[in-house]
Amino acid sequence: MDLFEYQARDMFEAHGVPVLAGKTATTPQDARAAAEEIGGGGVTVVKAQVKTGGRGKAGGVKVAKTPDEAQQYAEQILGMDIKGHTVGTVMIAQGADIAEEYYFSILLDRTNRRYLAMCSKEGGVEIEQLAVERPEALARVEVDPNVGVDEAKAKQIVEQAGFDAETGAKIVPVLQKLWEVYRDEDATLVEVNPLVKTGDGQIIALDGKVTLDGNADFRHPDHAALEDKAAADPLEAKAKEKHLNYVKLDGEVGIIGNGAGLVMSTLDVVAYAGEQYGVKPANFLDIGGGANAQVMADGLDVILGDDQVRAVFVNVFGGITACDEVANGIKGALEILGDNATKPLVVRLDGNNVNEGRAILNELNHPLVTQVDTMDGAAAKAAELARTK
Ligand SMILES: Nc1ncnc2c1ncn2[C@@H]1O[C@H](COP(=O)(O)OP(=O)(O)OP(=O)(O)O)[C@@H](O)[C@H]1O
Ligand SMILES: [Mg+2]
Repeated sequence: MDLFEYQARDMFEAHGVPVLAGKTATTPQDARAAAEEIGGGGVTVVKAQVKTGGRGKAGGVKVAKTPDEAQQYAEQILGMDIKGHTVGTVMIAQGADIAEEYYFSILLDRTNRRYLAMCSKEGGVEIEQLAVERPEALARVEVDPNVGVDEAKAKQIVEQAGFDAETGAKIVPVLQKLWEVYRDEDATLVEVNPLVKTGDGQIIALDGKVTLDGNADFRHPDHAALEDKAAADPLEAKAKEKHLNYVKLDGEVGIIGNGAGLVMSTLDVVAYAGEQYGVKPANFLDIGGGANAQVMADGLDVILGDDQVRAVFVNVFGGITACDEVANGIKGALEILGDNATKPLVVRLDGNNVNEGRAILNELNHPLVTQVDTMDGAAAKAAELARTK
């Protein structure tokens, strides 16, 4: 889950990372009040809160000299579209007297099974561009997950980025605090661009991006409150409530399978089979091991709630969960859903107890259910039933 800048700011503050005062507003009037409170009548910065980069360039970050100006800028920025994200909230931040802008990030480096810290004396700018054009200006330092960014590692990072001794010494404790955010909140990204040095020599995190690892949510009950409920897809929200591994996609063939690998390949097969019929997979849904009627019914219920879905492909390879259990699950799900089951289901069962499973569905003889023995054949049948051309 990506956080808004203001949420990252609050998180930084809670961990002792130096930040400036900031307050959110959703109306120009509130922005004015916030500017009065935070800026004491002086300079503040009005910042669009959207989960995408390049806000400044798009006109979503404006320096306001007075609360009046803050109100005017908030009026311009609220409702603005930045790369497809509509601005619903601005943050009014205290104005900083910036002497220099730097860059720092720490992220998960899956390939090397390490964390990677990146740091540059040239922040504020588009860091991707810097990395391509002048890679030598961006220090990349491997971080051992068992050690983290301790003082020695932080010193290595600032040295490699080419900071002078005095500035480096001021940055080191800030990097250690940012590491604590990364570790203690189970983040996969903490990025500060810019990390600034002010006229009087303080180091402050002026803009923050944080991505939290959803797999660690169970350790952080407080993270649920950070979720942007307004932006969540309603079907994904419903699936989450039912603890289903569901991702909405933009297609017509609903997919249910057991095991993430099987579901991924089912998406490929359906995408291929769907080409001639003008259809694509509508979702990813892994019902995992165990396929009782309730889980199957929940999964079908979410998929059938997607208006775009025209047919559903249930692709199951019986392993520890045998095909007859899955077939009974489908039978039970159709009973639970009753008249709410409205679209054709193509079922492919294979593996453990396949004959028993197929026999259960044959006997059921449900008008919506078609059985096909092979994965390719079933994908083609589902795509045909969902055809748009
Ligand atoms: N509180 C502030 N005081 C003074 N200047 C600021 C303040 N916040 C931002 N700025 C200036 O505006 C620039 C852009 O701000 P910021 O980094 O927050 O947005 P951005 O980089 O455009 O957005 P994104 O990080 O989404 O790409 C900064 O590099 C800095 O020069
Ligand atoms: Mg920035």
